Amino acid sequence: MRHNHIVKKLSILGTTEIRGLDLSEPLDDELIAEIKDLWNKSGGMLVFRNQHLTSQQHIDFSRQFGIPFGSPEGVPMQDTVSRYLHPDHPELYCVSNKVDKKGVPKGRKGAGTYWHSDVSFREEPAAASILYAKQIPSVGGDTLFADGTAAYEDLSQAMKDLLAPLYALHDFAVAAATQYTNPFVINDDLDGANKALHPVIRTHVDTGRKSIFVNPGQTSHLDGFDQAESDALLKFLYEHMTQPKYIFRQIWQEHDLAMWDNRTMMHFAIDNYGDDPRYLERVTLMGERPV
Ligand SMILES: [Fe+2]
Repeated sequence: MRHNHIVKKLSILGTTEIRGLDLSEPLDDELIAEIKDLWNKSGGMLVFRNQHLTSQQHIDFSRQFGIPFGSPEGVPMQDTVSRYLHPDHPELYCVSNKVDKKGVPKGRKGAGTYWHSDVSFREEPAAASILYAKQIPSVGGDTLFADGTAAYEDLSQAMKDLLAPLYALHDFAVAAATQYTNPFVINDDLDGANKALHPVIRTHVDTGRKSIFVNPGQTSHLDGFDQAESDALLKFLYEHMTQPKYIFRQIWQEHDLAMWDNRTMMHFAIDNYGDDPRYLERVTLMGERPV
């Protein structure tokens, strides 16, 4: 590579760490292509260490890879999370247990403490999420990632054949019922725009690889099945996907910028750090309709 950065595999599934790259400046086309290629080869998980970015630079970096939710050309995420957006940058979703002097939360506390894929309940769910750790607790606060591609590839051919034609309903109401305090759920979010039927097995637009695309946090059921039938099949898939061999554990370092692919992975933020301050900002890139 022309740039002097160091690329290191963090897991056998491909997860990759990059050091020595400064993302605060615009990247040339060649480097953008290299990062995309590396991202795809990593199974959708890159961790850039030691980044020193303003919120605007984080957004500018992200825009080189797609259109963020909440940007002028993009659509907003669900209204329920609007209270956690950065006051000056609607592209930034803030994740934090901190409050300001008036007691107003600086971000969503306990965000993503369940297995999910960001914004999977939209007709066009998220592609990348690009999360920047500005302040991390002294211990805890790791994020788990489950690789839906490796998990798919290990299924028997009979199970692959069974799953191939199936669709699942993804519905924000599933997350709203279990993850959000009732007064803060905006009722309009429970209407049409935050429900979508997606193939259970989706094919990545760049790599052509197939991944399991259901998650317990936001998938309500398999289309056409009785609830009990659906529950049994989904339970198998969730248990299969979350076996330790498919998990990458991101142990955050301050100034990490992690870029993951919601099309190939689901993730789980571990809430085990109490009041130890934690503050991260996320840009979420809009993706295509799953096929
Ligand atoms: Fe998330």
